[in-house]
Amino acid sequence: MTQERVSIHGQWSSRWIFVLAATGAAVGLGNVWKFPYITGQNGGGAFVLVYLVCVAVIGVPLLMAEIFLGRRGRANPANAVRDVALDSDKSRYWQVIGWVSVLSGFLILSYYSVIAGWAMDYIVQAMKGTFSTSSPEQITQVFDRLMANPSLLVFWHSSVMIITIFIIAQGIRLGIEKAVYFMFPSMILLLLVTVFYSADSGYFSEGLSFLFKPDFSKLTSEGVLVALGHAFFTLSIATGSIMMYGAYLPKDASVAKGAIYIAASDTLVALLAGIAIFPIVFANHLEPGAGPGLIFKTLPIAFGQMPYGDLFATLFFIMLVFAALTSAISLLEPTVALLMERYNLSRKFAAMLSGFGIWLLGLGSIFSFNHWSNFKIFGKTYFEAFDYFTSNILLPLGGLFVAIFAAWVVKKSIVQEELHMNSRCLRVCWDITMRYIAPVAITVIFLDFMGIINV
Ligand code: PHE
Repeated sequence: MTQERVSIHGQWSSRWIFVLAATGAAVGLGNVWKFPYITGQNGGGAFVLVYLVCVAVIGVPLLMAEIFLGRRGRANPANAVRDVALDSDKSRYWQVIGWVSVLSGFLILSYYSVIAGWAMDYIVQAMKGTFSTSSPEQITQVFDRLMANPSLLVFWHSSVMIITIFIIAQGIRLGIEKAVYFMFPSMILLLLVTVFYSADSGYFSEGLSFLFKPDFSKLTSEGVLVALGHAFFTLSIATGSIMMYGAYLPKDASVAKGAIYIAASDTLVALLAGIAIFPIVFANHLEPGAGPGLIFKTLPIAFGQMPYGDLFATLFFIMLVFAALTSAISLLEPTVALLMERYNLSRKFAAMLSGFGIWLLGLGSIFSFNHWSNFKIFGKTYFEAFDYFTSNILLPLGGLFVAIFAAWVVKKSIVQEELHMNSRCLRVCWDITMRYIAPVAITVIFLDFMGIINV
């Protein structure tokens, strides 16, 4: 065995903080903002079922693969994959997988930060008492007005990026760990408050049956691809984040347990968000398929009617911002580590440089809601195209290659040393899933969606 590498950035102070940071990366706008609206657009229960199966069957083993690849390589995803390939006597060009992951994270953060900015604006709206003094129609217009105001959107997008850059510039222990310690538990608490309120709205059972009663006639092949893409997005798979966080994981920590905790908490939060949101949607006769504005229109309506609604809305959007920030930092770290390790830049400079590039790219998403709303790429606006291309194409393909690399290319002895699974049954399960089930499933979903085969 080669000697263990060390990361130049240090390590997590404990394995628990790794789980917290990685769960913080996984839980974010994907759970609270995206999951409810894509569930709404794809007809509910059947979509949720496919999503859950993707998380459990493909997501968890892939998380394990990414964590162990990162930990073995102890560097940014590109270097980590290259070094593990070399350790396995294979070509260094496998590092393309790492580069593509880092690129995906870079692209995602550009629009992710814009949405996090919406949540920031809503903190201010809530504090001003907008929601308790407006009718549901007026609240819907608050969102539309925000979309029509590019300078305000640029201001919030910039604020999110500055905070993200600032945290990452402090490094792992002083930056990421401190941010996560503070933000993650608060976010969970507030989400629970919303769920309890929602349970009281009288439409709880409609909400639950929309989420959990599968109606397969509503499921399209595109819906299946979206469910798969979202499973990857929500677990932060193939974006460099998890591999990067794995690079800072102490040697003795269990990879399998970490992956299971991350996936289970992430799923729980998504379902809780759905449970909090759909009863409110139905109680107010809103459209579940309303698209990206869904939670920015539904939740404020509910808050506007509850006692101390402005206070709870303020806290809720603060928490949404926290959830987004713990994900945003995990999206920036891989690029920063790559710039530091490959090009010898200082952490602060690397954070500012990459942050600026991402900020610039994000302006396109902002304008796609106003100035550029008529500019379409394959029938989608700039923002929709970015989201679609990353979530539904780059991430599934990235996941496919991570699976192939971890199961077919990496030496068996390395896998065994890193995953350290004592049970033979678990070992075989992981191996079969990564070798056959995940690659075949991802390929079939793709081909089916492209109309090349018909399942
Ligand atoms: N998983 C995060 C969410 O659900 C988004 C994210 C994607 C974060 C990829 C890091 C990497 O909001």
